Amino acid sequence: MSVSHAKITVAGKTIELPVRKGTIGPDIIEIAPLYRETGTFTYDPGFTSTASCESRITYIDGDEGMLLYRGYPIDELAEQGDFLETCYLLLFGELPDLIRKEKFDYIVQHHNMVHEQFARFFQGFRRDSHPMAVMVACLGAMSAFYHDSIEILDPQQHNIASIRLIAKVPTLAAMAYKYSIGQPFIYPSNGLNYSENFLRMCFAVPCEEYKVNPILSRAMDRIFILHADHEQNASTSTVRLAGSSGANPFACIAAGVACLWGPAHGGANEACLKMLEEICSVERIPEFIARAKDKNDPFRLMGFGHRVYKNYDPRARIMQKTCHEVLNELGIKDDPLLDIAVELEKIALHDEYFIEKKLYPNVDFYSGITLKALGFPTAMFTVLFALARSVGWVAQWKEMIEDPAQKIGRPRQLYTGKTKRSYVPIHERASI
Ligand code: SDX
Repeated sequence: MSVSHAKITVAGKTIELPVRKGTIGPDIIEIAPLYRETGTFTYDPGFTSTASCESRITYIDGDEGMLLYRGYPIDELAEQGDFLETCYLLLFGELPDLIRKEKFDYIVQHHNMVHEQFARFFQGFRRDSHPMAVMVACLGAMSAFYHDSIEILDPQQHNIASIRLIAKVPTLAAMAYKYSIGQPFIYPSNGLNYSENFLRMCFAVPCEEYKVNPILSRAMDRIFILHADHEQNASTSTVRLAGSSGANPFACIAAGVACLWGPAHGGANEACLKMLEEICSVERIPEFIARAKDKNDPFRLMGFGHRVYKNYDPRARIMQKTCHEVLNELGIKDDPLLDIAVELEKIALHDEYFIEKKLYPNVDFYSGITLKALGFPTAMFTVLFALARSVGWVAQWKEMIEDPAQKIGRPRQLYTGKTKRSYVPIHERASI
């Protein structure tokens, strides 16, 4: 409901625009009447101060460094719950009771196999394809395999598609990894929980028994919880925009995977590890800090900074703790990359430039070191981010498609191109 109005005068005309309050967070000005009443657009490339939708799923307080999934703080969910409980919460809005949790776990578990012809689908890729390229293709291909859950007007099919995505993306991600290293695909095992199953599909081989390490699978599960959703970030906004045209959920999630791949977004964990390897020694940190501050150098400190967090990303704190747990469990005493990361963080957090611009470590800063220690190659890091974020994408897609006020997204522009001019036949054109 609108609680007040904002007055704006444009081209000599003054209009009042409704102002609405959310439950928490900044108010919004409903600017839809602006163009109709004044013939003027707003302009906000990158959407730095533009709300694209109303949502009840996730809330970030950037100044406080707080992240809530349906009102629950990320640290409480990560410490006390598991990833499938977070999936249920994001999809349905409430934490499940014991019976609903067991039923949800059972349903997800019994959808974790993929159509057997997906194995042949993989044969079309080069072995050295980037696994994110494979995942973009596989998510899109899901709409070619699962026709009975792509009807966007049927809520029952929304739920089937959601379950299939949560259940099958880990299997496809593990297949992408196995294919890249020339090892046979490992089928899911229903005797294991979600994250144990994923690690087994990635690291088991047919010739020996796979031994689950509960510390490592718990760390993997927690990493999935940290990456599950994050308001209207670039890839989620991509999924919503694709979904607003009525595209099927698998095609929309494929678009989200493509967007997440970028190094400014989900690709930052891969880029951050490569940066730490390039820094190579604590002595070279000042050189890279100087480059990050140099306006003429495109280099950025990967894993640092965030559009919303102007405080420490709460996920980075939990990720740092998980990183130490995993390294300790694996007996990795002095990981040189971790030493560089810890020193880099210390220097950056005391540097005037980073303080003034409120640049803190984000979720990607420690994740690369952790995932490398778990045994994943760098190219798989963003695939793991996409695996976890699939539930956030599908929850946001569901919210958008089930909103009666939903309409196709179609931004306008500030046109600064040529004004109307007549065609000139080629022989009459001046040479350029
Ligand atoms: C994710 O949106 C989400 O929620 C994303 C995410 C999610 O869960 O979905 O949280 C996941 O994508 C985390 C972010 C991962 N990306 C990186 O770590 C890449 C490095 N970070 C930057 O590229 C940057 O900080 C962004 C992209 C994350 C945010 O960019 P913004 O909000 O557009 O801010 P900006 O680029 O305008 O930077 C503001 C200033 C600039 O200086 P000025 O032009 O004002 O002088 O800070 C500087 C930037 O130059 N700056 C950095 C920096 N990040 C910003 N300088 C050096 N190193 C950096 N990392």
